[in-house]
Amino acid sequence: MASQTHNWFLFLLCMITLQCYQIFSTVATPDAKLYIVYMGERKHDNPEDVTASHHGLLTSLFGRKEDALASLVYSYKHGFAAMITEEQAEELAGIWPESKSFTMTATDRSRHGGKACARSARPSDLPTAAARSSAPDYTAGIDADDVKEDFLSPRDFFGHGTYTASIAVGSVVPGASFHGLATGAARGGAPRTRLAVYKVIWSSSEGPVATSAGVLAAIDDAIHDGVDVLSLSLVVPHDDSFGALHAVAKGVTVVYAGGNSGPTPQSIVNTAPWVITVAASTIDRSFPTVIRLGNNRTFIGQSIFYNRTYQSRNKFRPLHDGGSCTQESLNGTDISRSIVLCNSNNSISPVFSFIEALSNVLNAGGKGLIFAQFTTNILDITYQCTGVICVLVDFDVANRISNYAAAKRQVFSASISFVVGEGVLSPKVAWFSSRGPAVPFPGVLKPDVAAPGVSILGAERDSYVLGSGTSAACPHVSGVVALLKSLHPDWSHAAIKSALVTTASNINAYGMPIQAESTPRKIADPFDLGGGQIDPNRASDPGLVYDIDPREYFEFFNCTAGRFSVCAQARDQQPVYNLNLPAISVPDLMTRKTVWRRVTNVGEVDAVYKALVESPPGVRVDVQPPVLVFNATAKVHDFKVSFKAAHKLQGDYVFGSLTWSDGGDHVVRMPIAARVVIQDFYADVE
Ligand SMILES: *[C@@H]1O[C@H](CO)[C@@H](O)[C@H](O)[C@H]1NC(C)=O
Ligand SMILES: *[C@@H]1O[C@H](CO)[C@@H](O)[C@H](O)[C@H]1NC(C)=O
Ligand SMILES: *[C@@H]1O[C@H](CO)[C@@H](O)[C@H](O)[C@H]1NC(C)=O
Ligand SMILES: *[C@@H]1O[C@H](CO)[C@@H](O)[C@H](O)[C@H]1NC(C)=O
Ligand SMILES: *[C@@H]1O[C@H](CO)[C@@H](O)[C@H](O)[C@H]1NC(C)=O
Ligand SMILES: *[C@@H]1O[C@H](CO)[C@@H](O)[C@H](O)[C@H]1NC(C)=O
Repeated sequence: MASQTHNWFLFLLCMITLQCYQIFSTVATPDAKLYIVYMGERKHDNPEDVTASHHGLLTSLFGRKEDALASLVYSYKHGFAAMITEEQAEELAGIWPESKSFTMTATDRSRHGGKACARSARPSDLPTAAARSSAPDYTAGIDADDVKEDFLSPRDFFGHGTYTASIAVGSVVPGASFHGLATGAARGGAPRTRLAVYKVIWSSSEGPVATSAGVLAAIDDAIHDGVDVLSLSLVVPHDDSFGALHAVAKGVTVVYAGGNSGPTPQSIVNTAPWVITVAASTIDRSFPTVIRLGNNRTFIGQSIFYNRTYQSRNKFRPLHDGGSCTQESLNGTDISRSIVLCNSNNSISPVFSFIEALSNVLNAGGKGLIFAQFTTNILDITYQCTGVICVLVDFDVANRISNYAAAKRQVFSASISFVVGEGVLSPKVAWFSSRGPAVPFPGVLKPDVAAPGVSILGAERDSYVLGSGTSAACPHVSGVVALLKSLHPDWSHAAIKSALVTTASNINAYGMPIQAESTPRKIADPFDLGGGQIDPNRASDPGLVYDIDPREYFEFFNCTAGRFSVCAQARDQQPVYNLNLPAISVPDLMTRKTVWRRVTNVGEVDAVYKALVESPPGVRVDVQPPVLVFNATAKVHDFKVSFKAAHKLQGDYVFGSLTWSDGGDHVVRMPIAARVVIQDFYADVE
């Protein structure tokens, strides 16, 4: 797939944004160059505000206002020229200047004036005039004192922005790794894409803070700056995906992380029908770690374990079964210098049990922790282990190790060493990935798609880290969207989303159904992964798309969330069902329901598609007409999907699909969810 693209890209990480810096170097002098800093197109009514903001920006670079003024050569309406060093120019350019993922070649630099364009407000050091004119839009609800530990610049502080941006558009960096693990060339999904950063999340002593108002203001600025894709790996207290409607109406594709509150149902967030909501899946990267017992039996666990010093001194140590490794259960046992087997006692979240076990084992001087938990990927947590090596095993392996420890009277010992391996069944929907149905609109099937989001290598400061979350999955989709936009500049946002959803995969590379980590583990359904795992190559040639005129989104908005607006639809017309999304969800099927959809041919002009229906169990789904013939004049066809409940009961959600197939490469599949009910507003409480 072509990767040449020059889209503007937006990544939202921290608070506000004032100017969009593009830096052009011109005259060279021994240690300082003349840089022209172009500051976007924000309209400043008062020319003094502009000058003041230039002074403020330079003062923050130099520390002293006198030095800043001495450096200033010209002040333009939208920028200034100043004598600054290359380092200072890098600092202005924003996100982690030390990260290789955002470096560009000299030619790139002269063409784009730097890859990264960062925007941010500085709550405390903005010149008063500029701060007054813009900051309240962005900093609403955040006290500048609370965030003073953050860089008072667009520069990333806690790493989340750099990490996610590198996944979306990071340049190719050969030989990247996390301490020798996951070694290889690191690159983003669309490495030639230009990046604009809007810092909307600040680091405070209480953790990251962001407000919906700040995010909305940044989206506004991004629309104004002409970005093509918005990648939002964030969740704010009030679902702000409604705010993205104006971006979508202007042709911007908006991609959101779906949240990390899985596997609980109804936990999916950022669910407006016009955004792409992304679930996270595992990848085929594994970190097998060998546990060898004193009787030479070996077991394979998993650990992000990279301490080569430990590895080279690898030796047998005493082994103890610590039960749940609470303070009480370890009380009275000398576990110093030992390897301790601990069990998760918590079926909802092994993470909390793990943290407690780790702390107790460390405090008692233990050197190793073998942690038993149900089969979920919480691998990232093992790299919090310093001074002790942690290995995750399932209860079966733990039981065998426990039997060994109990059977022998004196010598029970174990050693731990690592190997890096492959051959892992993937993708699976990650345990933490938030699940549907969407609370605000169960008639809109969410999430839309799944993308890699577990143990993903990404940039942080001057190195690389392994991270997991829908935050990592979202920029994978954003990168692919940037590529699709460069390949199909005429496609609407809805067409791009449709292409991603209808070509996504529900089987893995071995032809087996994709599973979802859960309790118990199960075959993934549309509430876990929407249309499926994204398949960028197939998405570039989807055959048919479900397109939507942005006016229909406004109609949906007016008829659902818009409190003061006018709903043109009669109530029983159910616009939720008929919005032309590439998925159907019917949460209240009493006896019958009819849903309309429209497909547009974006493949070969002459094509014949046949409907293949996989009805949800207990529901009859019928498609009319079942054959669609496209030619030079017939590019668009409407069709009708009728749902009929086979039983009268208060049922659970059941799943199926509708696929249009041209008998060749084009398989246009939409997921279907339906729930049979007797009463309106049935609560799913079983
Ligand atoms: C374990 O294997 C090593 C060689 O790999 C051998 O020297 C040792 O005797 C074995 N120990 C037991 C208990 O079988
Ligand atoms: C690595 O292991 C050695 C030997 O056990 C230990 O001294 C050192 O602190 C460990 N380093 C880290 C980062 O855990
Ligand atoms: C599991 O152990 C933790 C830590 O000791 C304790 O706080 C919690 O109540 C236990 N949970 C269950 C379900 O037993
Ligand atoms: C550990 O055991 C001792 C005596 O058996 C008891 O006094 C102490 O309270 C226990 N500590 C904890 C944390 O349970
Ligand atoms: C939505 O409501 C507003 C009034 O609040 C109206 O101006 C607009 O035309 C409506 N849009 C649609 C598509 O119904
Ligand atoms: C396209 O197909 C329609 C019927 O589906 C037919 O009426 C029309 O003439 C066809 N147009 C061309 C250009 O073949």
